[in-house]
Amino acid sequence: MYTNPADYDRFMGRWSAALAPAFVGFAGIAAGERVLDLGCGAGSLTAPLSQRAEVVGCDPLLGYVERARARAAPAAAYVLGVAEALPFADASFGGVLSLLVIQDFADRARAVREMQRVTRPGGTVAACQWDFARGMPMLAAFAEAYRAVVPEAPRPVTARAESETELGDLFRAAGLERVEAATLAVALRFADFDELWLPVLGGPTPSAARIAALTPDRRRAVRDRARAIVLGQGADGPFTLEARAFIVRGIR
Ligand SMILES: C[S@@+](CC[C@H](N)C(=O)[O-])C[C@H]1O[C@@H](n2cnc3c(N)ncnc32)[C@H](O)[C@@H]1O
Repeated sequence: MYTNPADYDRFMGRWSAALAPAFVGFAGIAAGERVLDLGCGAGSLTAPLSQRAEVVGCDPLLGYVERARARAAPAAAYVLGVAEALPFADASFGGVLSLLVIQDFADRARAVREMQRVTRPGGTVAACQWDFARGMPMLAAFAEAYRAVVPEAPRPVTARAESETELGDLFRAAGLERVEAATLAVALRFADFDELWLPVLGGPTPSAARIAALTPDRRRAVRDRARAIVLGQGADGPFTLEARAFIVRGIR
């Protein structure tokens, strides 16, 4: 599902890195706490979290974990595993944080129950997800361009939350207390359109992979269309994009 962690970092990881510090602040993890970074990927959250906590990164993908260990957060410990069956004893952590992964869980309710199980009483569980429908213009531009060029392609089936309220309800249903849900916005600056486009060609995510797999003609058409969506008819050059995420935290 996710490949090529170096291109992932250039495509989505830079957005994760921009969001991570504010997400850590929202979660409110105490200094020195033992914390699980669930779905750590290439380490965008592991790195800032390691500056204040004792972090264990957990992800099913060895290549991503290796990149996190080698580049982002060498001091953290890493364990391969999935959210729905966490390989940790009850109450192992003072907090469990998961940055931009909840849309990928095969069973979200079970995953949140597992996050709660491995958190000690009084500890924090926190997660977030991009507002894919209305708050992630970069991905929306690529999706719209792809649909225009490949109208016959089936729409991907996703289990994405549509609001922060939905994430709050998910946390309350798992039994978490003092649940708070909100939104967080970040902005990124790009030097030109290619800075946005080139990481797509490595196909690091499912949406990028389907573009990367097109014939060169169709890929070029997707690029031109996405460029027009992002830049209009103006000249190429620096531009800024914003993105918004739903964030949620609760106490075990
Ligand atoms: C969108 S990436 C986010 C990675 C990292 N947290 C970041 O923000 O850069 C999703 C990550 O979740 C992992 N993942 C997918 N399904 C998972 C599951 N069921 N349990 C744990 N991790 C999962 C993937 O391997 C991938 O590294």
